[in-house]
Amino acid sequence: MALKLIPATSFPSLTSSSNYKLPSQSQRNRRSSSRVSMASTLRPATTKEIENLKKPYSPPQEVHVQVTHSMPPQKMEIFKSLEGWAEDNLLVHLKPVEKCWQPMDYLPEPESEGFYEQVKELRERCKELPDDYFVVLVGDMITEEALPTYQTMLNTLDGVRDETGASLTSWAVWTRAWTAEENRHGDLLNKYLYLSGRVDMRQIEKTIQYLIGSGMDPKTENNPYLGFIYTSFQERATFISHGNTARHAKQHGDMKLAQICGIIASDEKRHETAYTKIVEKLFEVDPDDTVMALADMMKKKISMPAHLMYDGRDDNLFEHFSSVAQRLEVYTAKDYADILEFLVGRWNIEKLTGLSGEGRRAQDFVCGLPPRIRRLEERAQGRAKPTSNVPFSWIFGREIKA
Ligand SMILES: [Fe+2]
Ligand SMILES: [Fe+2]
Repeated sequence: MALKLIPATSFPSLTSSSNYKLPSQSQRNRRSSSRVSMASTLRPATTKEIENLKKPYSPPQEVHVQVTHSMPPQKMEIFKSLEGWAEDNLLVHLKPVEKCWQPMDYLPEPESEGFYEQVKELRERCKELPDDYFVVLVGDMITEEALPTYQTMLNTLDGVRDETGASLTSWAVWTRAWTAEENRHGDLLNKYLYLSGRVDMRQIEKTIQYLIGSGMDPKTENNPYLGFIYTSFQERATFISHGNTARHAKQHGDMKLAQICGIIASDEKRHETAYTKIVEKLFEVDPDDTVMALADMMKKKISMPAHLMYDGRDDNLFEHFSSVAQRLEVYTAKDYADILEFLVGRWNIEKLTGLSGEGRRAQDFVCGLPPRIRRLEERAQGRAKPTSNVPFSWIFGREIKA
């Protein structure tokens, strides 16, 4: 069985006969470097995994220890007992469909006589938007479009998953309705970008197909404590990032696009409120395990949902996209530290009492983490290598600084 030891999230080397591109060495280094201290993440790659990676349909994949079902089964009772709470406190953050905006509210109307004129206006409006802005917007849209992965992720969580696909528990109702709300985000951005005529839609569509095929392991271990901490973090991250693309669109004079990014950001904010409320409740009923879950999630680092993105060409696509997002200050390492600091305050971590020794250590670790991340980031900035011009297939291979 055991062929070789592979580090966390790295890939076994493939023979040159493979006609499928996998992430490059630098991607492998980047992925594994965040977890070098975790010796336990070394394990043998199985023959089957290596064979799977050689198959032509196989997109970039995560090959590391994938821990499952880390929550003790008896804790599922907590989530069962919170059913009523979730109905009163969680579902209220969903918006009735009839009151929701729909992508068509912000797009040219194909049934109207003025359709071509509206498309022309749209193209005129986004003329002033630079290529690097489009790269960031496309990356954000692709992240939204991998929604099947995120719904799957929620349905991996023990005690809250949608057991049938139409389950009537509050948790399942939330997950389906949340997905349905989120579905409008990728839909609207995709159509806007298509109409703009500024981006290579075929390359973008390929990237989406690869990404959904890759999936993701956010290291939430079927554990709803970890899962809801992850979603709290991510909803805030997307709120920040869409808010910033809105600001840029406004600065470049495309008010309609600014409005689009703004309404998406406001959905993300509402979702953040809901997920942080769940974790707040977990802190109330089970502070010890919740603070340890938060420390665990932060030690593992919050992986970005689209970190396996690939367009069939660029082995470092996510790295390049992230670097443009960082340069444009749409989503930065500083934001990561800010989000953690916000959550530490939101959940009153410093004031938690009655914790076990391990719980107190987790509390200290988490409270001291934001300034530590910032210091590390400043040092990394000092060592940052100069940016180089990188071609992005999403903008027809034109080069931008990444
Ligand atoms: Fe979204
Ligand atoms: Fe979201």
